[in-house]
Amino acid sequence: MLKYRRINYHNMDGINFDSVLKGLQKELKPYDSKETNFVKIPEKGIAESSLLETLAHFAERENAPWKEGKVSGAVYYGDEPLLSFYEKLYHMVSQTNALHPDIWPSIPKFEREIVSMSSSLMHGEDGVRGAVSSGGTESILLAMKTYRDYFRRKTGIMEPEIILPSTAHPSFLKACEYFSIKPVIVGVDEHFTADVEAVKESMSGNTIAIVGSMPNFPFGTFDPIEELAELAEDKNVGMHVDACLGGFIDPFVRDSGYDFPNFDFSVDGVTSISMDTHKYGYAPKGTSVVLYRNGDYFQSQLYANATWQGGIYFTPTLLGSRPGYPIVAAWAAMLLMGREGYVREAKRILDTGDFIKKSVSGISGVNVVGNPLWVIAISSKEMDPYLIWESMSNKGWMLSGLSNPAGFHVALTHRHTLDSVKEKFVADLKSSVELVKGGKIKASSMAPIYGMASVLPKESTDVFLKSVVEWLYSQ
Ligand SMILES: Cc1ncc(COP(=O)(O)O)c(C=O)c1O
Repeated sequence: MLKYRRINYHNMDGINFDSVLKGLQKELKPYDSKETNFVKIPEKGIAESSLLETLAHFAERENAPWKEGKVSGAVYYGDEPLLSFYEKLYHMVSQTNALHPDIWPSIPKFEREIVSMSSSLMHGEDGVRGAVSSGGTESILLAMKTYRDYFRRKTGIMEPEIILPSTAHPSFLKACEYFSIKPVIVGVDEHFTADVEAVKESMSGNTIAIVGSMPNFPFGTFDPIEELAELAEDKNVGMHVDACLGGFIDPFVRDSGYDFPNFDFSVDGVTSISMDTHKYGYAPKGTSVVLYRNGDYFQSQLYANATWQGGIYFTPTLLGSRPGYPIVAAWAAMLLMGREGYVREAKRILDTGDFIKKSVSGISGVNVVGNPLWVIAISSKEMDPYLIWESMSNKGWMLSGLSNPAGFHVALTHRHTLDSVKEKFVADLKSSVELVKGGKIKASSMAPIYGMASVLPKESTDVFLKSVVEWLYSQ
């Protein structure tokens, strides 16, 4: 039985909430009717063996797609023996908490080294400062809060604005909501990269930062950082490079034999960079790095309180208690991989991207969006790309849907470089295009949601989506 509260349902004329949830039930709440659902804490504890059995059951079902390389992004490495190595680390450090550097001084030592190694990949010089956060979103929240506070103090900007290409990750908009910053969204050009002229025209006396992505999530395209940074430098505002997705591939692209523009601290005007160790850094989930060109910016990120009755309190990032394990694992991942390991993996992924791009251009009716390297977005002018996406889903692929233009993407990882995954992807894509051309795929389960989002006002669709999220997290 579907259970939900119809929050603001009246805003959603013409949309059948029940049918949307029915569609989502199979995918997002598949266990509801089949498994025991704990709604209260059990009177007596449950045996370890039984809990392990339960988890093994879920793991068997949920690990298969990514192990087979059928998932876009999400698991960036996933091979033994790295997984066993992480288990060994966890055993030693599961109790550590970065909030207590006095008890575990090794944790900030690891953080300093992660920051320093990351900075060296980004051509950072001595003054660069930074922190290890819990993920890309937190790094971005921190950078935006930093610019807000820095420019409030330095130039008295009280109604701050950041300039965002429309392809920038939603965490920038989330930062705007959380920290009362006005987002100024500019379009992208025909290459799906930031429109520099539009950015220039959008700058005002309240601008605190410009954002560029290397690459962006939807289309995997690369914003012209040198040009954006010049605009930022001219007006003395921040320039944030979002390398959450690319931070551990970008530095190795040239070594892998492909062209790549300058984008990091080697570019004057770039003032901060986010780069995720838990993506192509191959660390387990839970870390990202945020870097600033100097300590003045970094100071605006920090929280410190010397007068609390509970004693001296300070945190470098948003969280209070912070598990030490993800930090230790990120540190170990970087050392284990070394430059050589990262170049090896980057080359495998970039070569796979090259193969897929060339193969897609040989399939009539579909096209690659923009000029990406390893996040390959596929669209079509001849048929509904959501139907192709649906057919790919029917064949077991878990790809990400895109809009404007409608399409889907695959973010290639180590998993796609294995066995004959890329050949299988291309064969399934070819056959999906044929099925759609032949009228064999009638409807796409997600298309109504994407369709709705493209015609209704953003406020309504956001409210609608929040009702879906409430449903997801309700028993
Ligand atoms: C370009 C980009 N920025 C930021 C993020 C946010 O990272 P996270 O999901 O780790 O918070 C992502 C996630 O995919 C991303 O692709």
